[in-house]
Amino acid sequence: MRSTQIREMFTDFFTSRGHQPVPSSPLIPDDPTLLLANAGMNQFKPYFLGETSPPFPRATSIQKCARTSDIDNVGRTNRHATFFEMMGNFSFGDYFKEDAIAFAWELLTQGYGLEKDKLWITVFEDDDEAEHLWRRIGVPASRIQRLGMEDNYWSMGVPGPCGPCSEVNYDRGPAFGKEGGPAIDGERYVEIWNLVFMQFQRGEGDKKGNLPILGELANKSIDTGLGLDRLAAILQDAQNVCTTDLLLPTFHAVQDLAGRACPSEGEEKVSFQVVTEHARSIAFLIADGVLPAKDGRGYILRRLMRRAIRHARLLGIDGSVLPAATASVITNLGSVWPELTAQATLIEQVVTAEEESFTRTLAQGTRLLDAAISRTQSGGSAALPGETAFELADTYGFPLELTVEAARGAGLTVDEDRFAALLDEQKKRAKTGGRAKTAEALKKMDTYRELAARLPRTEFLGYEHLIAETTVTGLISGGTVVTTAGEGTEVELVLDRSPFYAEAGGQIGDTGTLTTSDGTRVRITDTRYGLEGFRVHSARVLEGELSTGAGGEAAVDGNRRKGLMRSHSATHILHAVVRATLGDHASQQGSLVEPDRLRFDFAHFAALTPDQLSQIEQAVNGHILDDPGVRAWYADRAEAEAAGAIALFGEKYGDTVRIVDIGDFSRELCGGTHVAHGSQVGAFRLLSESSIGSSLRRVEALTGHGTLGHTNTERRLLNEVAGLLGARPADAPDALRKRLDALATAQAELGRMRAAELRSRAAQLADKGRQVSGGQVVAEKVTGITPDELRQLAADTVGRIHSGPAIVVLALEHADKALLVAAVSPDLLSHGVQAVQVISRAAKAVGGGGGGTGALASAGGRLPEHLDQAIALAAEDATTLLNDR
Ligand code: ALA
Repeated sequence: MRSTQIREMFTDFFTSRGHQPVPSSPLIPDDPTLLLANAGMNQFKPYFLGETSPPFPRATSIQKCARTSDIDNVGRTNRHATFFEMMGNFSFGDYFKEDAIAFAWELLTQGYGLEKDKLWITVFEDDDEAEHLWRRIGVPASRIQRLGMEDNYWSMGVPGPCGPCSEVNYDRGPAFGKEGGPAIDGERYVEIWNLVFMQFQRGEGDKKGNLPILGELANKSIDTGLGLDRLAAILQDAQNVCTTDLLLPTFHAVQDLAGRACPSEGEEKVSFQVVTEHARSIAFLIADGVLPAKDGRGYILRRLMRRAIRHARLLGIDGSVLPAATASVITNLGSVWPELTAQATLIEQVVTAEEESFTRTLAQGTRLLDAAISRTQSGGSAALPGETAFELADTYGFPLELTVEAARGAGLTVDEDRFAALLDEQKKRAKTGGRAKTAEALKKMDTYRELAARLPRTEFLGYEHLIAETTVTGLISGGTVVTTAGEGTEVELVLDRSPFYAEAGGQIGDTGTLTTSDGTRVRITDTRYGLEGFRVHSARVLEGELSTGAGGEAAVDGNRRKGLMRSHSATHILHAVVRATLGDHASQQGSLVEPDRLRFDFAHFAALTPDQLSQIEQAVNGHILDDPGVRAWYADRAEAEAAGAIALFGEKYGDTVRIVDIGDFSRELCGGTHVAHGSQVGAFRLLSESSIGSSLRRVEALTGHGTLGHTNTERRLLNEVAGLLGARPADAPDALRKRLDALATAQAELGRMRAAELRSRAAQLADKGRQVSGGQVVAEKVTGITPDELRQLAADTVGRIHSGPAIVVLALEHADKALLVAAVSPDLLSHGVQAVQVISRAAKAVGGGGGGTGALASAGGRLPEHLDQAIALAAEDATTLLNDR
């Protein structure tokens, strides 16, 4: 059975049993506690927790999941992967254990036709009920095993719903491992389907990562996950995840690149499978908007890419590997997951850039490593220090395994214990920082949840109205729910109706005022979503006391909001123009919409030329001047996609989506506020363009009053410059050019005069030469020259003394420092006298040091008040050097 049929059968089975099919959420989750989507239930978390009432009692999905907890097992076992499709059915307080078990059994044995006696069941240690239900359906006691928390209790790994689970495992036969059931061997008895009986809620973890159970969920629920890779392996009789139809084309592509077949066992087999498996994760992560970075989800992506590249190099693939490997993923899976096809160009650009840079890293690391190896060898040690291995890994991204391998080649070991200790320290440092932040965020979230569970949703009026009658339904102060807030307090408030736009889709939140009927005045400083769909207004009570239940008038700062609408519409126009100018790959990756100012990030592999920038600016202004209509409409998601609306990365949409059209050239899914007509955007002005990561560009721009203000500032500056030049603004460049020419002529003249003056000063100094037994000594303090001129003067003075060997020492006080320069004549130099010898004692006297070899040496010190003494010392040493010669 092909994987497309497996998916279809799953969805059909559950849809015909009253489940609402829901599309996969993006890999970037809408949950601050999670880095990447790791289970089908993620997007339903608020339903399980009872924060939001579910729109349907049953759902089914095929979810994209990324997990790197098993990354080291990839290629070493038949079943582990860092990306997988999880097919699931969900009940939100509807059916529970009995139906969940019956559904799974029916679909596996009758739908997919698995042999009953190859199915083994595990249940949680004290779950008699689950065991009983499995027995009743026909599973003999001999194939049911009980396991503990570690195996049969499921949570997201972060706070959220959780519960005991029961797993269905398939016996792949003696060729795969030892006898004795899933408790004994997970390779032979491979887990395919996990049925979680969601019943409890977990809190924040302690230092050991234990997540305490906070209490029971209001409704017992079901969350299941059937792994598509593993089921496909069984149904297609494939040895492992790389040889099902989900990955086989990629596996072949990697073998083509290596120019040979994957062996049936050994380290090379691991490498072939790692490259294959990681290529799929990489393609999916980039398609969902993850880009390589130093931390967070971007780091996970980078690690996968680097791991895949390194394994490719181990296979002897020296040319590029990721572009071809990910391309095969796109071809194979693009019809099921259209985001892969839509982002094909971006995927190719990102993997190409990362592979190029990591290849340089590998080369750089190899050089450093070679140097460290020879240092270790010449030091007579047998082990490369852990510090070296750590620095290579940490700073250069050079993996430990490579260091160990190279060291082994040179007959050395690596101090891996020390390496592990350093890594541990670093992890601890990173964790404590992260934990504090999450703890604060979580406490706030709890308060939001409490309110969201009992308050009605805020009705948003801000598309049509900037002023509205409203009632305060909730108040939060100091992180907890309160009923009143006195004058001067910072509070967060929830309103039953609100004209305030909450920050989303790049557009920042509205500000304004709330005036209650009893005269209390409140300043709203920001509006955000505390939880999905739950609006919170940050505020300060200016006058009076604010209480829950108070009614009054809420008014958005109108001019600010108009500026935001201008920028948001300008962002859509800019997005359309950027794509039309650079190509469809140049899609939006992020944006910040502020009043009359915007920032727009998009995918592109090179800096924009001045021509491209002015072309873009002109095209945006052209659209604005054409005054296109702006229209917002609603549709279900499928309709919107069919109509070609552009959905942005990482955004999550419910069934009904809002679409914003501008003229006939821009159509985006967007919840933001917009102008009614394009011309209301006003003049658009690009301010800057820069790189913000590999294949990622950022432009900043102004609209409306922002452009006017900027133009006014420029006009004022130009008038000021023109005024200083005594010219009209239009003549200012010419006038300035003339001044600069005149200045250059004057400077050249000044330089000539200065040089002449230095020459005459050199002559005067040379005349002051004191005759000692070996030659002449000049030791003088000078003023009124620069440090550079001091050196020139010393050299000139020596040159002026024609009557044999000479030493010149000059001293200058400059910018509160003491400077000394010594020059010796060429005949002294050829007799081994170095200028630096003359001033080494003197330099110490002024609290400094100096250097240089040869005929000219200089020194500086912090103690200009000791310059006289220093000169005397230098004169003495010069005399001695001449006498001794
Ligand atoms: N949420 C469960 C899992 O991921 C089904 O295994």
